Amino acid sequence: MCGIVAYTGKENAFPILLEGLKRLEYRGYDSAGIAILDKDIAVHKKKGKVSALESYITEETSGTVGIGHTRWATHGEPNDINAHPHLSGDGKIVLVHNGIIENYQTLKTALIELGHQFKSDTDTEVLVHLIEEYAKRSTSFEDAVRLALQKVIGAYAIVVYSIDEPDLLIGAKKSSPLVVGIGDDELFLASDAFPIIKYTNKVIYLEDEQMAIIDANGTYSIKDIDNNIITPEIQELDLTIQVIEKGEFEHFMLKEIFQQPITVLESMRGRINPVEGWLKVGGLTKQMNRISKAKRIIFVSSGTSWHAAMIGEYLFEDLARIPVEVEYSSEFRYRNPILGSEDVVIAISQSGETADTIAALQLAKSKQASTYGIVNVVGSRISRMTDTGSYTHAGPEIGVASTKAFTSQLTVLSLMALHLAIEKGTIPQSYVMQLLSELEALPDKITKVLNDNEKIKYVASEIKDSTNALYLGRGYNFPVALEGALKLKEISYIHAEGYPAAEMKHGPIALIDENMPVVVIATNKSAYSKIVSNIQEIKARKGIVISIVTEGDTKIKKLSDYTIEIPYIADPLSPILSVIPLQLLAYHIAVMRKCNVDQPRNLAKSVTVE
Ligand code: G6P
Repeated sequence: MCGIVAYTGKENAFPILLEGLKRLEYRGYDSAGIAILDKDIAVHKKKGKVSALESYITEETSGTVGIGHTRWATHGEPNDINAHPHLSGDGKIVLVHNGIIENYQTLKTALIELGHQFKSDTDTEVLVHLIEEYAKRSTSFEDAVRLALQKVIGAYAIVVYSIDEPDLLIGAKKSSPLVVGIGDDELFLASDAFPIIKYTNKVIYLEDEQMAIIDANGTYSIKDIDNNIITPEIQELDLTIQVIEKGEFEHFMLKEIFQQPITVLESMRGRINPVEGWLKVGGLTKQMNRISKAKRIIFVSSGTSWHAAMIGEYLFEDLARIPVEVEYSSEFRYRNPILGSEDVVIAISQSGETADTIAALQLAKSKQASTYGIVNVVGSRISRMTDTGSYTHAGPEIGVASTKAFTSQLTVLSLMALHLAIEKGTIPQSYVMQLLSELEALPDKITKVLNDNEKIKYVASEIKDSTNALYLGRGYNFPVALEGALKLKEISYIHAEGYPAAEMKHGPIALIDENMPVVVIATNKSAYSKIVSNIQEIKARKGIVISIVTEGDTKIKKLSDYTIEIPYIADPLSPILSVIPLQLLAYHIAVMRKCNVDQPRNLAKSVTVE
């Protein structure tokens, strides 16, 4: 969380930074700020989104070096003072930061004793004062930054500048990401490649405790914080600017929902051939022996990725007969789990950056468990730290509410479960062939669901003023109920809960009255009659039933107030289709309630702090 962008080159830095911040806004949007470094340091910062900063700066801002920041508040409320960049006490050093300085209180007390005065409540301001303190006794600014960072406990990605060495910008990272962009006569530092890709596709991903020292002449060096020179690997990114723009769509979320026929296809590309009857998941092949014979598979993840993991549990146990546990990364990392070398820990993460999931993997590694990453962002930390893994290939997801990344995670999990099932011989060949051809048919079936967009919009208009909603599902579709409820609450701020349909009678049924919309995912072939009974129980209490059913279903249709049909699909693959109407329902409700769909309040896409 928090986005950083910095530029040095021949161009006017201000528009480059402003545009860069807009591209990074998915990482946080509590406040934004820019410092332009000319003969002086000109700092502009404002509470709110980057657009608020843009309208606030009316004067001409020139200068070819600058740093920018968009914030997701951790220490100190979102306001103008706590916004980044932060200045040192003498006003000569300016810094932007993503992460948390855990020992900032101790450092702050020591600095106050040395006479430092602080304006903000942030941990970041402490760091810039610490660098100022070291600058007094160091021979170079680079040394001062290095010495200060050696005192820091916690996570950081920073870019810092001193007026005493005006040619230099210094970036450094630990746990939070930082990328160096190498252009022609210009250099960039940023939290990810989105602000850079318009100018260059050549990047260096810094490793932990590395510093990038870049100068206005277009030269750079990479060192570690012990001052050893590092020879970096320059990567050429396969990313275009169109991929990270909204195009004809009103919101990124809508674009990403409508991309799903393609993204699901991309997740399968080169991995299945239903005609020849083969399936191969590269990362799995590399560790097949270890994973297929695992005593236990443990999924670790957060948010929407945790819902994918829940479906992963159903898939792996049902098809491949391997015992699975699903853990929230944030719980797993602190609860002293029993783990050993026969366990396999699979991390699922869109961003590949989530701090809790990284920590869960570190714990798994320390206990000799094998690690596997199912990750969307290529080159991200989780993809680099796991023994092996599979990319989901959904392309950049910018809407904060995850949609296409989720269906791609489910696609990869289905392929993995099927691959393991084939290896272990746990399901008949005829069922393998059926699932393979159903996988192949998925993109067309997703398109069919998307064609019902107008109908789903109508249902949204009917329930948009609700204050609560309940989502129910059974079996493979219970986690889909959780995901549907999450989508609604995160973007429309309607309180929503997901429940296993049969558990409704142990509590949520008390909430049902004529004002309560109940979304029931009722596409299951198994337990069909049970879900019919659950719907009857809701209707008996006058709840408003919105059912997601398989095409041609008449029984549930008669019982429901609104019905959305999806094409026939085998139960294990059904979540990939059944979640799509729920994504659209949440989207339209949020738009009708005038919510900021792509940037819901208080949320951020990459949660790089605990
Ligand atoms: C944040 C995002 C969610 C995401 C979760 C886990 O909360 O807003 O959309 O599901 O983090 O992120 P990851 O990148 O690890 O999947």
